[in-house]
Amino acid sequence: MRILVIGSGGREHALVWKIAQSKLADKVFCAPGNGGIAGQAECLDIRAEDTGQLLDFARREKIDLTVVGPEAPLAAGIVDEFRRYKLGVYGPSKAAAQLEASKVFAKLLMDKYKVPTAAFGIFDNAHEAKKYIAKIGAPCVVKADGLAAGKGVVVAKTIDEAEQAVVSFMEERIFGDSGNKVIIEECLVGQEASILVITDSREVVALASSQDHKRIFDHDEGPNTGGMGAYSPAQVVTRELFKEILERIVYRTIDGLAKDGIEYCGTLYAGVMLTKEGPKTLEFNVRFGDPETQAILPRFKSDLVEVMLAASEGKLSRVRTLDWDERPCVCVVCASKGYPGDYEKGKEIFGLEEAAKLPDVVVFHAGTRRQKINDKWQVVTNGGRVLGVTGLGNTIKDAIESTYKAVDKIHFEGMHYRRDIGRKAVGSS
Ligand code: AMP
Ligand code: GLY
Repeated sequence: MRILVIGSGGREHALVWKIAQSKLADKVFCAPGNGGIAGQAECLDIRAEDTGQLLDFARREKIDLTVVGPEAPLAAGIVDEFRRYKLGVYGPSKAAAQLEASKVFAKLLMDKYKVPTAAFGIFDNAHEAKKYIAKIGAPCVVKADGLAAGKGVVVAKTIDEAEQAVVSFMEERIFGDSGNKVIIEECLVGQEASILVITDSREVVALASSQDHKRIFDHDEGPNTGGMGAYSPAQVVTRELFKEILERIVYRTIDGLAKDGIEYCGTLYAGVMLTKEGPKTLEFNVRFGDPETQAILPRFKSDLVEVMLAASEGKLSRVRTLDWDERPCVCVVCASKGYPGDYEKGKEIFGLEEAAKLPDVVVFHAGTRRQKINDKWQVVTNGGRVLGVTGLGNTIKDAIESTYKAVDKIHFEGMHYRRDIGRKAVGSS
């Protein structure tokens, strides 16, 4: 099969790395890819948002399966376009992608089908939003309705902070139309977990649980990022909790969408808070998580292409069970100085080969680029999140140790990473 992966981050590198191992994959392309992906796939000079060119390429090159990594092309309807031309494509339709593209859509669906989530109010007017904040008090959570590159959520400790978020979303319009509506939510307390499933709307196969680390600094301090590290499995998600999350959150959501005439096909990601009253939904993503995927796929022993192909054809019942490596996996993100704010690019990265030589270690690239200087190739930084250094171990402690050993081999100017990835799980494995 000829397979095209769309995207350029660490998640896409993990997908390409796994797809390239499939016995079904003859040739893998990635648009646009990055400096690491170039080692396993032919990278194309086409942006992930350029649906027209991607479609032309897939038709011309007879691509059998296109796998869409990021949310933006899904929300723009790339899957509907590919299907119109009878091209094999893995990912949800534009209608189904609203689950991530509109938090208001997701909240209303959860309300309708009794999917547990934080109590909330929806507002299209800043004055009303502020009145509601005054009523429920702080802490509370303010969310922009639309896509905001993971930055549209403010967990406000004070009323002032919450009001400021409303002003920046609705009046200063820092995310444009994404802030036309806001959601004000009750603040939930507990540990977070990410539950990802693959579905064709009728059958659901669950991937191993994982836990992200969203804040930039150790001990969950500082601003939210796209994710500074992850580990799998998330030991807090016991077998019983996993079953409860599937039954009360995942199945109800997929069935609810189907009742409303929307088939969900692809990866569904439920971000869950494990509260004292049970698991509650924080958010849905309509794609694989980043960096969760980097921690999940090294443990995934089945053929991912077989599973995604079956889902894309509406024949997921073909897949009986998934095979997992029991060993835990840890992914530490190495980021550029300044991320999630402004940062510089173009810093040479050293030690990649030494790190990759360590046993059970894979270094996934996120924001990197290869460049040729004086006839010599070098890999340089090209984004905020630069690398996802990943390691397996017999226990979570071993996995943490082997991952950080690999991180120690790598260096670039201004490299920042968290030193506590996976620590919450130590002692429980
Ligand atoms: P989201 O993009 O909706 O997942 O939000 C980003 C992060 O904000 C989540 O991973 C949580 O850490 C936090 N968050 C979102 N909603 C809530 C909530 N209702 N209570 C507490 N924290 C929240
Ligand atoms: N790790 C969070 C996300 O993929 O949105």
